[in-house]
Amino acid sequence: METCSFAIYPGTFDPMTSGHVSLIERGLDVFESIVVAVAKDTPKTPLFSLEERVEMAQEVFADNPRVSVEAFHGLLVDYVAEHGTRVILRGLRAVSDFEMEFQMALMNRRLNRHIQTVFLMTDYRWLYISSTIIKEAAKVGGDVSGVVPDLVHERLKKKYAELAGAT
Ligand code: COA
Repeated sequence: METCSFAIYPGTFDPMTSGHVSLIERGLDVFESIVVAVAKDTPKTPLFSLEERVEMAQEVFADNPRVSVEAFHGLLVDYVAEHGTRVILRGLRAVSDFEMEFQMALMNRRLNRHIQTVFLMTDYRWLYISSTIIKEAAKVGGDVSGVVPDLVHERLKKKYAELAGAT
């Protein structure tokens, strides 16, 4: 089998955090390019629409031709196979991520045994962050600058201001 020059980095990205950005940058040390795949079908109820999540991630990497961002729906392994690669990239923050990631990697392998999941460690600076904890802080006016890209910070403020106005 041929080796793969690019990996697919899937997630909900609701929204993309500095941890995701750092992981993609690490991934680029290993792969020539990365496709960020923003999931429509996710077990979560996202704050941002699929279009908003894709648009924000695209803006974050607008100056990097080695990173592209797309939406996907349906089974991840089918999407990966359609792209002609066999590599799913995922990040691990702490031991707590391991169980879920292990489950997902094994399920994906059962669904398509030619597809491999490659894990990279998250930079220690982002070990404690998650999209949920960032949203929780931003919702009640906490300053989340730095833990998300600047443009995401602005979009979070705008989103919560809109939601507050609507109630
Ligand atoms: N630094 C900081 N935080 C990180 C991180 C990093 N490097 N990597 C992930 N996280 C956080 C995210 O912020 C997110 O936080 P949250 O749970 O508070 O939202 C969490 O870790 C994981 O999010 P993410 O990386 O976006 O992935 P996900 O678990 O939301 O993605 C899919 C799951 C989309 C990959 C999975 O549901 C899927 O493949 N869906 C398609 C349908 C399918 O094929 N299902 C079968 C799968 S077996």
